[in-house]
Amino acid sequence: MATNRTFTMIKPDAVENGHIGGILNMITEGGFRIVAMKLTQLTVADAQAFYAVHSERPFFGELVEFMTRGPIVAAILEKDNAVEDFRTLIGATNPAEATEGTIRKKYATSIGENAVHGSDSDENAAIEGAFHFAGREQF
Ligand code: TYD
Repeated sequence: MATNRTFTMIKPDAVENGHIGGILNMITEGGFRIVAMKLTQLTVADAQAFYAVHSERPFFGELVEFMTRGPIVAAILEKDNAVEDFRTLIGATNPAEATEGTIRKKYATSIGENAVHGSDSDENAAIEGAFHFAGREQF
């Protein structure tokens, strides 16, 4: 089952701009089933841990500040080939390069404030999902 799941966050920019509903609609229209979901806010320690792979990058400080500045929606999604198909649905990291019809093309404003997260591997999807949700919160 784990290989058919991915983890997503609707990031603070999209929540602030009132796009939770629009993004969830694109997710469900895209064939993903919502397995778990909550509105929550990352602490600085959470964001630093989540993006630890980028800790040496010049944008790391801004990324942590952005990801902690307001609530996010965290969710686990299920679909065949979930990780890859969800990366296709969200589009390129930089919205200027995102394909028409993708979530980032529609809702992201910049490479830094790009509306949504999608796990980049089955392994990370499992780690990221378990970080936010207990087993009993996953349906
Ligand atoms: P990354 O994992 O490369 O992208 P993705 O979210 O598409 O998997 O980067 C993580 C986040 O870091 C990205 O969503 C936004 C931020 N970021 C920047 O702010 N500037 C950059 O140049 C890059 C590459 C990422």
